[in-house]
Amino acid sequence: MAHLKIRVYPDPILKKIAAPLTDFGPKSQKLFEDMIETMYLDDGVGLAAPQVGASVRVLIASPTAKPGEEQVIVNPEILEESGREVDQEGCLSVPGLAVKVARAKKIRLRYQDRQGNSHEVLLKDFPARVIQHEMDHLNGILLIDRVPFDERQTLLAGYKVL
Ligand code: NI
Repeated sequence: MAHLKIRVYPDPILKKIAAPLTDFGPKSQKLFEDMIETMYLDDGVGLAAPQVGASVRVLIASPTAKPGEEQVIVNPEILEESGREVDQEGCLSVPGLAVKVARAKKIRLRYQDRQGNSHEVLLKDFPARVIQHEMDHLNGILLIDRVPFDERQTLLAGYKVL
């Protein structure tokens, strides 16, 4: 396993739409393992492949933050969503920024696991929020794109990377 470097805003890979993962061979298995290790070492509860420089539709989620309880989610699709809830989020790729983001409260998710088997699950509250945040990364969307324009200017004015 390896501790991968986290890509930070404004790295252009974070704005790309990631491609579906079709190969579940050793190279992808290594990516999953390295992403899991990196997420825990960097104290994240989720990590998307573009954040470590791989533009594929893979994310790791560990809403409990307990090693061993993480899930590898490949090619996720939200089939249904309901409710709306606003809560604070942070992101390893936009360090130091915490913003309130509205997300669906419940989602029905279809995804493939690390072997490529398909599953459908119902998620709600924090686990649903983690998945929605990480799925944004697969579509080139960052936290800063989720706040209203005027708020975004104020947030970015104080953001050192720019
Ligand atoms: Ni993030």
